Amino acid sequence: MTADEFRQAGHQLIDWIADYRANLEQMPVRAQVDPGSTRSRLAGTPPESPVDFGEMLQQLQQVVVPGITQVQHPMHFGWFPSNASLASVLGDIASSGLGTLGISWESCPALTEVEEVVCDWMRQLTGLSQQWEGCIQDTASTACLTALLVAREQASDFSQNRGGLQAEKAAYTLYSTEEAHSSITKSGLLAGFGKDNLRFVEVDPVTRAMSTTALQALIEDDIRKGHIPTAIVASAGSTGVTAFDPIAGIAEIAQRNNTWLHVDAAMAGSAMLLPECRHLWEGVENADSISWNPHKWMGTILDCSLFYVNKPELLIRVMSTNPSYLRSTVDSEVTQYRDWGIPLGRRFRALKLWFHLSLDGPEAIRTRLRRDLDNARRFAEQVEATTDWQVLVPVNLQTVCIRHEPAGMDTEALDKHTLAWVNSINQSGMAFMSPSRLDGRWMVRVSIGVESTTWEHVESLWRLILQHVAQDLENNQGALTRLKK
Ligand SMILES: Cc1ncc(COP(=O)(O)O)c(C=O)c1O
Repeated sequence: MTADEFRQAGHQLIDWIADYRANLEQMPVRAQVDPGSTRSRLAGTPPESPVDFGEMLQQLQQVVVPGITQVQHPMHFGWFPSNASLASVLGDIASSGLGTLGISWESCPALTEVEEVVCDWMRQLTGLSQQWEGCIQDTASTACLTALLVAREQASDFSQNRGGLQAEKAAYTLYSTEEAHSSITKSGLLAGFGKDNLRFVEVDPVTRAMSTTALQALIEDDIRKGHIPTAIVASAGSTGVTAFDPIAGIAEIAQRNNTWLHVDAAMAGSAMLLPECRHLWEGVENADSISWNPHKWMGTILDCSLFYVNKPELLIRVMSTNPSYLRSTVDSEVTQYRDWGIPLGRRFRALKLWFHLSLDGPEAIRTRLRRDLDNARRFAEQVEATTDWQVLVPVNLQTVCIRHEPAGMDTEALDKHTLAWVNSINQSGMAFMSPSRLDGRWMVRVSIGVESTTWEHVESLWRLILQHVAQDLENNQGALTRLKK
């Protein structure tokens, strides 16, 4: 493709994206396709001759779009907000267009230095002190794995330089809760802790936050057994119910026991742009590492996960590689981000954050986050004020966990009823929410926070919920009557 052909196709593509975003509300939220149907619409062999760009766009529209669950849709209330602000999309396009290679400072000095600056901007915007230095990882999962690898090496006096964990006699233990994201367990397993050494600390039955008393007891017990308490992962906004572990108390325990504390704020980190929310992660300054995803609620397009540490030298000691072909004369003066994580080659991710912060601006982002908090609070009040409805967990941010609990249904019937009404909404394509288990029973998470979701959308969701609930009750009634006959 020549530069001129690119220019022409690029204009067409941008127009196509702008139209797509403008018309998104007309589409079903959940992809209305069966497994394998997208694949079956694609040729089984690669094209031998070039495809015309117009034809390419047509295929994008006809084959790809139907296979997308529209997480940018204002009626998307599932999982978590995965906003992709158009300002950040432009930054992502710029990053692709520049075609940079981030393997060393020398391979793209701007890549490293824009990243240093935007990570520091984000540090300031979230009220973190100057002790924190950051980088951008692809995801919070990678950031957590990286943190746990460093924790493991610190606790084992750098066992990687000897026989690794395999040669160690003591067991290295990791602490989190059942509420923590599945990536924490996965990272623990990948970092070599072993399932037997993962501890799930009891949580408060109401707030679902880690109990510091239980944490202390587990650590003492492990020490008595000759184990080495190595790392704690505290959730600042857990996935299911947005629980906030008490970081200040946990940090005290971590410091007393020389245990690494990683704060996983993947979803809720965005809230820390709001000074009024920062009490929720009080004590974070005493952690060892923090990660959170601007690619969620804040809206910098995937993938963009911030990872902060206060002792980069430890991270570098564990992650550093220094092959001769990557050396340059300025190495002692510059940051080599390949030593801050697992990959060697890195994308110019900082551009999307830079564009997002510069073109939209922090104040507009803060206003939107406050709108979502307000919508969640109003929605929760509406649910609570309605007979037979429960808000099951305190609403800390923008996720509301709800259940319709009509009298006379046993647990099994209630589970069936919950899944029936939520699935019928999801299947209809009118809105999307995530059913999830809480204390062994189904409930529904309503996660508010798509960029285009207004209060009117939340109100229409509530109307939709009430309709589908009534419909399921009627269906059940019909079934019962038929059974009696
Ligand atoms: C609390 C929490 N931690 C970690 C993750 C994993 O994030 P990522 O997809 O960036 O790995 C999520 C994703 O939903 C999350 O909610």
